Amino acid sequence: MGLRRMCLKRRNLLHLATAVYILLVVYSLTNGNGRCRYEMQTIFADPMFTDYVEGGKCRVDISNLGLVDIDLYEEANITDVETANEHVAIGGKWKPHDCRSWQKVAILVPYRNRWQHLVLLLKRLHTLLQKQKITYQIFVIEQEGDEKFNRGRLLNIGVKESLKEDNFDCFIFHDVDLLPENDKNIYYCDNQARHLASAIDEMRYHVMYYNYAGGVIAVNHENIFRVNGYSNVYWGWGNEDDDFSARTIETGLLLTRPPQYIGRYKMVRHPKQWRADNGQDLFLTWRSRWRTDGLSSLDHTLYKVVSKEQKALFTQVTVDIGKPPPHPPIDARMPRESWIWCVFYQILKFCLKN
Ligand code: UDP
Ligand code: BGC
Ligand code: MN
Repeated sequence: MGLRRMCLKRRNLLHLATAVYILLVVYSLTNGNGRCRYEMQTIFADPMFTDYVEGGKCRVDISNLGLVDIDLYEEANITDVETANEHVAIGGKWKPHDCRSWQKVAILVPYRNRWQHLVLLLKRLHTLLQKQKITYQIFVIEQEGDEKFNRGRLLNIGVKESLKEDNFDCFIFHDVDLLPENDKNIYYCDNQARHLASAIDEMRYHVMYYNYAGGVIAVNHENIFRVNGYSNVYWGWGNEDDDFSARTIETGLLLTRPPQYIGRYKMVRHPKQWRADNGQDLFLTWRSRWRTDGLSSLDHTLYKVVSKEQKALFTQVTVDIGKPPPHPPIDARMPRESWIWCVFYQILKFCLKN
């Protein structure tokens, strides 16, 4: 009854609806803010980090590290990068010889047909990781064929295949075209999901939205299995990183980020891809899928290793991941996030009719 009487005054109602709408927009924009935190690598808080002993855990004096000049238009060639990195072991492995690294890190790069980007990335990463005295190996996971690109599945394959080589503590999921500008951006995992690319030049050196987890993100061994890795079902551009972000937050992890002057990246310029048709729909239903779609479901039906090659500066794993199904699996259940909008819309419709 109360609602009916209120509905009679249409003008008041429109004011009310506008107010509610604005509140909902503000809520949507700020929702997730509390799940994200800008902070330095927590390893710096460990007393071992400062109390250095010979042969002990590596100490890096980050006050000597800083911004470097990145030239996106440099015509780097792989032979020069290899010559400059002759001390790197075959397969793109390296470890410090005078101390023990805090973590063993696998860098996983999803890849197809971006050779010039890869050369620039290898040049930059080998230098940065060695300055930071990190034990690492770089893996390039290449999708064979010309079906739509499936970044999430390639990254899951990276986790699984890298673990066949070594027991890595930390996985860093790294776009091929992002070049870190600051050597202070430490390539280790923390106990959360550490979003290293907190300031990309293309995004005006800001994250576009709080939950953004694309570009470069570091997750430790235990957590990546708790999160169940990436979804395997996003084909084409968009939303697989949003799905990943939702999983990490649902698992109870925060997104931690280096302060923006440290988490700076330059993106090599390239033509933009169109957003996939069904990415948004899939993302709306992430909740019903995440426990069963991910690392847990990544078996021989989802990929075949075509070749594994130890190159001088990286390990290349080329995979056949098949093609997208004709009708992608979209769960019809309404996601929790949509209820609030739906209820609001129904009330408004009811009121405007009366
Ligand atoms: N990628 C690739 N080849 C492709 C498409 C994507 O290697 O044809 C990889 C590459 O690592 C790239 C990442 O997927 O950085 C994300 O794709 P893209 O750079 O096109 O998206 P953006 O983040 O620039 O919107
Ligand atoms: C897409 C993400 C993408 C981001 C930044 C979002 O709309 O869903 O996949 O990383 O934009 O480009
Ligand atoms: Mn890009």
